Amino acid sequence: MAILEGFNFPASGIICVSLIREFIMGQLINWREESVMTNPTFQEGRQLRVSMLAVAVVLSRLVVTAEAAPPQVTFSKDVAPIFQAKCQECHQPNSIAPMSLITYQDARPWAKAIRERVITRQMPPWHIDRSVGVQRFKNDMSLTDEQVDSIVRWVDGGAPQGDPKDLPPPKPLVTDNEWKAVRDGYGPPDLIIKSPEYTMPAQHQDVWYRPMSDIPLTEPRWAKMVEIRPTNLKGRRIIHHSIAYLVLNNDPDAVNTGTANGPDRFRDGDDLVNRRPQLMEWAIGKGYDLFRPDTGKLILPGEKISWDQHIHAVGEEITAGSEIGIWLYKKGEEPKKRSYLVAFTGIRGGRYLDIPPNSLAQTEGFTVLKENALLENFQPHFHLRGKSMQVEAILPDGSSQIVSYIGNFNFNWMTNYIYTDDAAPVFPKGTVIHVSAWYDNTRANKNNPDPDQWVGYGDRTVDEMAHAWINVVYLSEEEYNALIAERKSKTSKETNAGN
Ligand code: HEC
Repeated sequence: MAILEGFNFPASGIICVSLIREFIMGQLINWREESVMTNPTFQEGRQLRVSMLAVAVVLSRLVVTAEAAPPQVTFSKDVAPIFQAKCQECHQPNSIAPMSLITYQDARPWAKAIRERVITRQMPPWHIDRSVGVQRFKNDMSLTDEQVDSIVRWVDGGAPQGDPKDLPPPKPLVTDNEWKAVRDGYGPPDLIIKSPEYTMPAQHQDVWYRPMSDIPLTEPRWAKMVEIRPTNLKGRRIIHHSIAYLVLNNDPDAVNTGTANGPDRFRDGDDLVNRRPQLMEWAIGKGYDLFRPDTGKLILPGEKISWDQHIHAVGEEITAGSEIGIWLYKKGEEPKKRSYLVAFTGIRGGRYLDIPPNSLAQTEGFTVLKENALLENFQPHFHLRGKSMQVEAILPDGSSQIVSYIGNFNFNWMTNYIYTDDAAPVFPKGTVIHVSAWYDNTRANKNNPDPDQWVGYGDRTVDEMAHAWINVVYLSEEEYNALIAERKSKTSKETNAGN
């Protein structure tokens, strides 16, 4: 049996508690409804919810009578610190968001939109389902329930300013195209490799720009973290994805051989792509890949980067390329294991995708793990019609577990959800990774450019695709057994401590 820590299962007590809490806060929100529609396991959750309503009503009355009127929530005292911590890096002049959320005057006109975006958990852009799958992440930027509550109470109370003396000291503004890893405290990269730039006219077909770059290394070095970013802020508007493939000098171990999609897939393009070693894949809204301690990517002298940059015209001529920042392990601290980037397909046979106009559609894909494997992260990848994606592991003993689920995918945000070291799921060889993908080609999808179009598989932004990008570390039998034993003993200690 594999061990998955930090898991909540549907219809568990955890959902009951959170449902009651949300009801009390007046926040029963739409995304659960969406999840019910798209994911059968949520049917139970819905029945549960209906039966819990009565309990919740009683409880909320108890709470109301037990507590005195809550103090007024103000911008200066309560909301500004939250915006500083969770919103302003993007919501400031010269960053990527459409408006600033720094001063009261900036934020006040947006109060209603802010309420809507935070209760539906669209903002900050962290869209992973909170009721199912692994729940512990290294780069979680979401609001806590208490923060959501404060913002909602602020708006519902008329969005008052309060006493400006209560404001926290202002945070320095970042006005450049910063590395997300620097923002998160990892320091600047040891190495930056830039691709040449491309000038995209205002109107043009999509372009796949594939230049090469040298890697200035004279000895083998291991990467412990990588991040790609467009070379300037405007570039973030036209560069949809950027992949840095490693062109090998002489390193067959860098090629992933630990997964298989079935005999019919061997000549398939996606399958070949999966075997080419990739230093990193980046897409709109993604941050960095941070490998687990003692794992990483080995780069040998003489290897090159082959870029694959998907560029989309946006009505304004923009010149930009990509650059990759590489954070290296120190000499003498080299890791033991490689991490392989794999695109787990959500489409059976790779390319058979048929999304009629004005309809919802669903596909699924299966990949076998030929080795014991640890999954480091989850990054759903779609184009404009993507709606939901679920990664499920079907174990050799027939049992299955949901690894991660995102019910309200948004094309602008290919967020990378990086599991904490002790929560990263580990599975025995023979496990099937089952990726289910749902598409919304109706008017209800705000990103849909034209619901009257048929959509098929393809590389253009107006075509569709679905896969889960996951960094995988393969484990020998001993390593696998040792990790399982370590997690079991930790779980039992935690349980004992709790008793
Ligand atoms: C990682 C960057 C980022 C963070 C962090 C972030 N936002 Fe945003 N926000 C954006 C971008 C970009 C858009 C426009 C695209 C979109 O709607 O997804 C946006 C859109 C919005 C909108 C909709 C504006 C409109 O035109 O209707 C609201 C409201 C909003 N954000 C509020 C917030 C709040 C409140 C927070 C913090 C709790 C936050 N955002 C955190 C980047 C961010």
